[in-house]
Amino acid sequence: MLHLISMKEWPPQLIEEVLNLADDVKRQPAKYATALAGQTLLMIFEKPSLRTRVSFETGVTQMGGHAIYYDMSTSPLGAGKENIADTARVISRYVNVVMARLFKHEVIVELAQHATIPVINALTDYTHPTQILADLQTIREKKGRLKGVKLAYFGDGRNNVTHSLLIGCSKLGLDIRVACPDGSDYMPLGEIVRSAQNFAKKSGAQVLITHDAAEAARGADVLYTDSWMSYHVAHEKLEERVRVFTPYQVTAALMALAAPDAIFMNCLPALRGFEQTAEVMDGPQSVVFDEAENRLHAHKAILLKLLEAAKK
Ligand code: CP
Ligand code: NVA
Repeated sequence: MLHLISMKEWPPQLIEEVLNLADDVKRQPAKYATALAGQTLLMIFEKPSLRTRVSFETGVTQMGGHAIYYDMSTSPLGAGKENIADTARVISRYVNVVMARLFKHEVIVELAQHATIPVINALTDYTHPTQILADLQTIREKKGRLKGVKLAYFGDGRNNVTHSLLIGCSKLGLDIRVACPDGSDYMPLGEIVRSAQNFAKKSGAQVLITHDAAEAARGADVLYTDSWMSYHVAHEKLEERVRVFTPYQVTAALMALAAPDAIFMNCLPALRGFEQTAEVMDGPQSVVFDEAENRLHAHKAILLKLLEAAKK
């Protein structure tokens, strides 16, 4: 069964196939108007969401299927009355595909072990693969290519988006530089960096982890940042994190070090004055809303690919 759990297990060719399909879905949505007729997606949420929830649900509707939003806190699983394995077995008898947004990555892995339908990781503390597929689609649209594109990421290095960017970029041959504070709370997991370095050997990409924002920004084609306060971070950490991440804020001065036609990306939600200034977020180089739109097209492509593979 083909799942989308972290993208580490996906060959580069499969990623490219999904990106090509996402482009086609975007160009000709009517072609896919009945592609999911009679099919149901279950969407389990343990954390908040705007984009992921609404784009998946809308995508399924536009392809003639049905999506169920399921708040985990109202489930027997969330109430501690049922385990993940039995949940997986039961939902596999009802629906065709399941996605889940969870805290612990181990839970989505276990869900996939026991489900007999495709499982999609809609974000865990560890990775956010559906986001990065949409981001790669956006970068290719804006830059006309992926190989050799230089992406610089600023801020919280130890989060799901950074981890998935490291995996996705290194697999497809984009150079990735992560500029983040020193220390295990802020740097990408060593295991992810080593995987990215291995993927990069095959694709020809470069992987750099630095504490110097200017070094990462110089000549970059894409400047990317993400929330300093991810959903899994306790509110008490706010003051400390604002202090350590402020040197990595994406400002007009940082943008000026990048390529003249560089784009600014943020997976959103974003706070102006935190991980980027309002000037950058609302400026002419920002593509954040095109990026958000592509979640819709990329998610449709992910569903089509996984459901097609499940038929075989
Ligand atoms: N980028 C993203 O996943 O947004 P949501 O948390 O709103 O789904
Ligand atoms: N790193 C962020 C991504 C939000 C889409 C978080 O986990 O909250």
